[in-house]
Amino acid sequence: MILALETSCDDTCAAVLTADGELRADVVSSQGVHAAFGGVVPELASRHHLELVNVVVDDALARAGATLDDVTLVAVTQGPGLVGALLVGVATAKGLAAARGLPLAPVDHLQGHVAANFLGPDVLEPPFLCLIASGGHTLLVRADDHRGFTVLGRTLDDAAGEAFDKGARLLGLGYPGGPALSALACDGDPQAFAFPTAARVAGLDFSFAGLKTALLYAVRDLGADETRRRAADLAASYEHAIVEALVLRLERALAGQPGATVAIGGGVAANRRLRARVEGLGVPVHVPPPALCTDNAAMIASAARWVPPVPFPDHLGLDAYATRRHAA
Ligand code: KG4
Ligand code: ZN
Repeated sequence: MILALETSCDDTCAAVLTADGELRADVVSSQGVHAAFGGVVPELASRHHLELVNVVVDDALARAGATLDDVTLVAVTQGPGLVGALLVGVATAKGLAAARGLPLAPVDHLQGHVAANFLGPDVLEPPFLCLIASGGHTLLVRADDHRGFTVLGRTLDDAAGEAFDKGARLLGLGYPGGPALSALACDGDPQAFAFPTAARVAGLDFSFAGLKTALLYAVRDLGADETRRRAADLAASYEHAIVEALVLRLERALAGQPGATVAIGGGVAANRRLRARVEGLGVPVHVPPPALCTDNAAMIASAARWVPPVPFPDHLGLDAYATRRHAA
């Protein structure tokens, strides 16, 4: 069995997967502490991972009805992410593997998001296009095979989830604000305000900084009372712009690969407007269940099935990395 750990941001996660891909346990402990600060505080995240990681691993093994004796491979997110947070997972994984003389599979977090699609019961086989949109990343890739992907486009500034969160903050909603902004948008008119979709950014890269600034100016020009009165219209128009920006790049990618299957992942995949727009593209669409779209260790275990394992003691030299190593 594969025991996987994921601690790249503010969720402490462990999962147990059989060697042939059957998910036995998937435990996520979310750190609510960051909400008070309006965003993830890296040092706090590391400290909480340290407190939670052993409990979460024990819980995952117990739920799987397994012990460390059943584990044949330890997997861990090596990067990208908050380096202090990643180090807690990497050090814990090395410790577990060393204690048992087991091999270790270092997994790229973004490959993990892609590999969420390889988990059952609805398994997607590569090749496919995959849009990963979360609070930390916005990336359009082609999953070429089970082992890797080609980056087609990435955000030049903010991530899509970050754009949702910053917009929500400007509208006085809580953190993370994506779900709240989206709920508010249900009662609004998406055409009420014309927010930019960075359509002029050629190719498949994304940019959300201008959109955030446009909302800032709109809120400033309207004033507090009018902003409150028109909050639903502002939210709907803002959400519309983010979704159209994402879908525009998907359409451009599909123009080069007509009929390709599209998978979406990351927290923003929960967005109803995005799902509806992607489902309307006229190509097969695959969205893993919500728990596998947001950060989790099951996707890390899934990716680990195709990562060359590093034997003990060679893996003791592995380090975490904060940013993606192989730019494409
Ligand atoms: O993947 P995720 O749980 O964590 C990481 O950032 O890695 O993604 C969280 C992000 C947040 O920015 C949150 O606001 C956004 O996903 N999000 C949504 C929705 N649900 C979560 N954004 C828009 N609409 C939603 N329904
Ligand atoms: Zn993620």
